[in-house]
Amino acid sequence: MMSRRSFVQGISAAALGAKTVAAIAEEELSKESATPVRLGIIGPGSRGKELLRSFLRVPGVTVVGAADVYAPRFAELNSVCGYNVPSYSDYRSLLDQKDIDAFVVATPLSFHSQHVVAALKSGRHVYGEKTMAFTVDEAQEIVRTVDAGKQIYQVGHQYRYAPWIRKTIERVHQGEIGDVTHVYGYWHRNSDWRRPVPDPSLERLINWRLYNEYSLGLLSELGSHHIDIANWVFGETPQAALATGSVAAYHDGRENDDNVQAILSYSKGRRFVFSSMTNNAMMGDQLWLYGTKGSLNLTLQDAEFYYEPTRAAQLPANALVTEKGITTGASYRAGGEMPYRGQGKKLNIPVVEDPTATACKAFIECVRTGQRPVADVRAGLGAALAVVTANQSLKERRELEVLRAT
Ligand SMILES: NC(=O)c1ccc[n+]([C@@H]2O[C@H](COP(=O)([O-])OP(=O)(O)OC[C@H]3O[C@@H](n4cnc5c(N)ncnc54)[C@H](O)[C@@H]3O)[C@@H](O)[C@H]2O)c1
Repeated sequence: MMSRRSFVQGISAAALGAKTVAAIAEEELSKESATPVRLGIIGPGSRGKELLRSFLRVPGVTVVGAADVYAPRFAELNSVCGYNVPSYSDYRSLLDQKDIDAFVVATPLSFHSQHVVAALKSGRHVYGEKTMAFTVDEAQEIVRTVDAGKQIYQVGHQYRYAPWIRKTIERVHQGEIGDVTHVYGYWHRNSDWRRPVPDPSLERLINWRLYNEYSLGLLSELGSHHIDIANWVFGETPQAALATGSVAAYHDGRENDDNVQAILSYSKGRRFVFSSMTNNAMMGDQLWLYGTKGSLNLTLQDAEFYYEPTRAAQLPANALVTEKGITTGASYRAGGEMPYRGQGKKLNIPVVEDPTATACKAFIECVRTGQRPVADVRAGLGAALAVVTANQSLKERRELEVLRAT
């Protein structure tokens, strides 16, 4: 969609006539925003409903159909929409509904490719949740389908749309902290991931994240967002993945680990190091980018730069010195080894909107204008290949080569 400024700039003097520029711009923009976009959703579970709340705030967007294998979701969906949405237990019946412009796919990971590919092949656009796919073959099938058609496909890596992340990564790419050699991602929570199950027969449907038939565990559910950011920072996808994990806190029969550690290797020796645990939230969700001249801390709400002091110059030449009870020498200085406690430089970009809301708006704009999404199929592929390979490495307990995204 055209911005107000570009529209106003593009207006010819002759077109102005009696009306003011502002009035014409307003008219054009409201016409444009009123272009209806009718959504169908496959999997209106917890995330699906959250996405629809965001989509429904975009003028002109309505939800006209839904498919889910678990019937109680439909009443929940109707209460989000404020009206009754036609619903089906089989997603193929929803695909047959002709008045749908775009599908939202928010089913468990193991169903993503089946639902995304079918929706694209039905000629409609797709907003598909992350991780893009469950296997390498499925990820490639999504890429082939997107490439073969004209439909928009946007993957649910919404942090690509967060203004403070975009701005800081732009500055990182301009050299603000020198060459970035390492990205560390921590996603630590205190929550067992279990959801209440009304009937034991529904355990796997509702707690799908805990079972490897449906889910690639923490690497996929949380790690994929950080991996996507590491790929963005490094400007490429990783070459190799080494991961491990265990069940350390929740010995309840789950198949997927409740804590995971992974190292992804990029060109020129650069690395992304990921840690996720689910029984201690001290670190929360944060990324650290370490460069030759400084560091960047990214959180869900802000971003802060720190600059490296020139520590080598501060080392005493040879004599042993005792500082605050610690003896230091030519290769070691207490002050230089202590965690940096100086002031950072916060980026002053207020968070005015959840990145999910921004990503949903951007998708609708792409549907209306035909623009390629920022979180496109290639971004989805890069993260998916890394997640799938890291999870395989976790199972095999050895480093594995990651297929490069092309
Ligand atoms: N981008 C993000 O930040 C973010 C956040 C949360 C979840 N997600 C992703 O969203 C997806 C869904 O997660 P969730 O927490 O909403 O799970 P959920 O279990 O709450 O919802 C999934 C829904 O899909 C339905 N479903 C299962 N199998 C189906 C099938 N074969 N056909 C049709 N419907 C089916 C379930 O009944 C359920 O209603 C996952 O891929 C998850 O990774 C993304």
